[in-house]
Amino acid sequence: MEHRPLGATGLRISAVGLGAGRIGGPDVSDTEVDALVGTALDLGVTLLDTAPSYGLSEERLGRALAGRRERVVLSTKLGYGVPGIPDWTGPCITAGVDVALSRLRTDRLDLAHLHSCGLDVLVRGDVVDALQRAVAAGKVRVAAYSGEDEPLLWAVRSGAFGAVQCSVSVLDQGPLAGAVSEASARGLGVLAKRPLGNGPWRFRDQPAEGDVGEAWRRFRALALPPHPLGWADLFARFAAFAPGVSAILVGTGRPAHLAEVAASVERGALEAPVAGALRSAFLQAGGGWTGRI
Ligand SMILES: NC(=O)c1ccc[n+]([C@@H]2O[C@H](COP(=O)([O-])OP(=O)(O)OC[C@H]3O[C@@H](n4cnc5c(N)ncnc54)[C@H](OP(=O)(O)O)[C@@H]3O)[C@@H](O)[C@H]2O)c1
Repeated sequence: MEHRPLGATGLRISAVGLGAGRIGGPDVSDTEVDALVGTALDLGVTLLDTAPSYGLSEERLGRALAGRRERVVLSTKLGYGVPGIPDWTGPCITAGVDVALSRLRTDRLDLAHLHSCGLDVLVRGDVVDALQRAVAAGKVRVAAYSGEDEPLLWAVRSGAFGAVQCSVSVLDQGPLAGAVSEASARGLGVLAKRPLGNGPWRFRDQPAEGDVGEAWRRFRALALPPHPLGWADLFARFAAFAPGVSAILVGTGRPAHLAEVAASVERGALEAPVAGALRSAFLQAGGGWTGRI
């Protein structure tokens, strides 16, 4: 597994990270989480991304990492869900860091993202300041922002964050020429979320769920020629080698799926004509697509 610098933060991360949303549900056992984390480490996947909104994900990761915490770069999110404290306030960030440390059973968060707050929260200052204080206190190594569009650009330009997380995929190429390229030029790390565009090829008909439904609609509109190594390979390699992207965060609870994506990224960047055709298809069909999946 290729490891890369996360911008100028001093952290090194695997080019494939595990998005740990799917291990938060009630249908997943501790044994399965243990196996997933074990597979990730065996593959050299050292970046693990979670959030308080992913059900039991933080707690389960904390348990599964007992004795192997130092082998991973642990990323989570902040801003909401601390009992008794209003969301998106300075005290919610300060207390949220301690809650995350306790759930993840660690003494530091390698990456802590503000989880998709709006521009109003960012410019107000108290939330960003509280995150900076957590960095100064040594509880957070890198302050990060996860989100899209105007707030994402503000975060990139603010100087307050070492890394950002945003949608980048074959279906979501809009940020590449804007926020991603600017972030990279400024030395910020960039994590590509939803790199497989939620896997829209899985559905014969348009799913009702908003973001997956939109992904399906875009996938159909692009009308891409089949890729001999399969859609997951095409999507993973497009996002992992998109200029400015430090790593992709693949959402899965299945060790075999993580291994497939790791193997794809080890094949290297897509051939230039293939990547070029994906960019042209997006410009033609999706140049006017606003909003992110
Ligand atoms: N606001 C935010 O901060 C935010 C929002 C969205 C996402 N994220 C981050 O990004 C991560 C990924 O996002 P996501 O899960 O929404 O989208 P994604 O990674 O683009 O797609 C996940 C889907 O792809 C499937 N998949 C994974 N590997 C596959 C493979 N090898 N072959 C075929 N299908 C495969 C998964 O199915 P299986 O489950 O069956 O493997 C799942 O249905 C999240 O876990 C999170 O870390 C952050």
